[in-house]
Amino acid sequence: MGLDYIFRLVRKKIVLITIFGFSLCYCIYNFSKNSHNDNFLVRGSYTSTSSLKHESFIWNSAELLENITTPSKCRNSIQGKYFIVDDRGFVCKRTNKLSNGCCNLSSSLINRYSCNSCNSNGCCNIYEYCVSCCLDPNKRAVLENIFSSSNSNLRIILSSLADQFELCIMKCRTNSFSVYHENTYRDTKNKFCYKDLS
Ligand SMILES: *[C@@H]1O[C@H](CO)[C@@H](O)[C@H](O)[C@H]1NC(C)=O
Ligand SMILES: *[C@@H]1O[C@H](CO)[C@@H](O)[C@H](O)[C@H]1NC(C)=O
Repeated sequence: MGLDYIFRLVRKKIVLITIFGFSLCYCIYNFSKNSHNDNFLVRGSYTSTSSLKHESFIWNSAELLENITTPSKCRNSIQGKYFIVDDRGFVCKRTNKLSNGCCNLSSSLINRYSCNSCNSNGCCNIYEYCVSCCLDPNKRAVLENIFSSSNSNLRIILSSLADQFELCIMKCRTNSFSVYHENTYRDTKNKFCYKDLS
């Protein structure tokens, strides 16, 4: 009976060890497969993906500047406490935001492509004005520089952006948090920048 018990124990252990071994192999296999895929994606985005995305990227144009369109819906900067900037470049008070996400153009103090609170370095004191200023069609040349960056992480982010609004939302936000911490001499008052520092 004692021997029987030991045999059963050993058999159970063998089963457990086998299952564990298989799981481990499976994990290692999957892990190496995924890291292989990641490498592939990173390399792919250097060439085809991001240049393709860059070509399909939508810039604000002079026609959009002239035509104050009344779309059924607007994307906007969402999180502002006092202001909102919509994807047409209008800044308004949060209280003048319509239910479709657009600024109410009938409200007073409405501004389009406003660089209010921004300095000549492209840095602004107020986030929403950074985005609005950045959305101006004449900022395209300044903004286009970012697409020639060789930073692979940045290139992956850029390839996911559809248009100037998404680019400006990203630039005004990320510039304020990450890049400028290293440059302590930077203007801490105007910390939302749509321009790259160089
Ligand atoms: C802007 O308005 C003009 C004249 O009304 C029109 O011809 C043009 O197609 C419009 N452009 C856009 C982008 O809506
Ligand atoms: C837009 O603003 C005007 C002026 O303040 C106001 O009369 C109107 O009701 C607003 N429109 C909406 C849809 O809230």
